[in-house]
Amino acid sequence: MHLKAKVAVVTGATSGLGLEFSKRLVDRGSVVYGLARRADKLAGIESELGDRFHGLKCDVSDDAQVGRAIATALEGSDRIDILVNNAGLGRFGPVEELTLEDWDVQMNVNLRGVFLCTKAVVPVMKAQNAKSGFGGHIVNISSVAGLVGNPLLSAYNATKFGLKGFSEALMKEVREDGIKVTCFYPGSIQTEFFDTAGVPISAQPLSATDIGPTLVHVLETPDNYLISEVVMRPLRPNG
Ligand SMILES: NC(=O)c1ccc[n+]([C@@H]2O[C@H](COP(=O)([O-])OP(=O)(O)OC[C@H]3O[C@@H](n4cnc5c(N)ncnc54)[C@H](OP(=O)(O)O)[C@@H]3O)[C@@H](O)[C@H]2O)c1
Repeated sequence: MHLKAKVAVVTGATSGLGLEFSKRLVDRGSVVYGLARRADKLAGIESELGDRFHGLKCDVSDDAQVGRAIATALEGSDRIDILVNNAGLGRFGPVEELTLEDWDVQMNVNLRGVFLCTKAVVPVMKAQNAKSGFGGHIVNISSVAGLVGNPLLSAYNATKFGLKGFSEALMKEVREDGIKVTCFYPGSIQTEFFDTAGVPISAQPLSATDIGPTLVHVLETPDNYLISEVVMRPLRPNG
């Protein structure tokens, strides 16, 4: 897909990977609707990136808020070519010390939010496919923790393994509708994620800017070429 004048919805656009993805897409000429809860941050990013970035205050785990955000994006452009389901968080710790709230917030953002955004966007992409023969591209951000279980990560592992299953099933379900589905499995990245995760980051993590070009590459593949999964790790995480 050529990214010029395409319309993207990026969740979790206020920091880390989502901010990096938004910048890359704006640079390539796309219009980006960035969803996140912190309105002040979204306003700052609008000032920085210009009129191709539109911040939409939205908690992705809230059905009504997602419905309003997707409707607003459609009012602006009447199409959605790209959905990046990136918003997510981890709360790590021994299973007996995780609270029900820790469990629920991870399930609600990392899985329910992906479901709500995908459910809202797939009909739009199917209609685009019916008109033009290509529907769009959905990129889900799982984690190496979606492939490998580890101590202290039980709830986070459950969400990211869940997202692997959701992505595989969705990919097979919508490929004949001209919709690509790709799942990313990154290792440690230096972002705000570790401010609240409850464990220290590895000594030599990836940066969001390492990963941005991979998103662009995956999106720019020819229409009949789908990269369905990408695993990305720091080469020497321990320095
Ligand atoms: N950092 C890593 O090492 C790493 C590794 C593998 C995978 N990942 C995954 O990569 C994705 C991005 O993480 P990151 O590292 O960039 O973390 P980050 O810097 O903490 O960014 C998380 C983003 O998600 C948004 N968000 C959180 N809860 C939300 C909600 N309820 N509704 C809407 N937006 C919400 C935050 O914005 P607001 O606070 O403004 O809502 C923020 O923009 C996550 O899915 C994470 O699990 C991260």
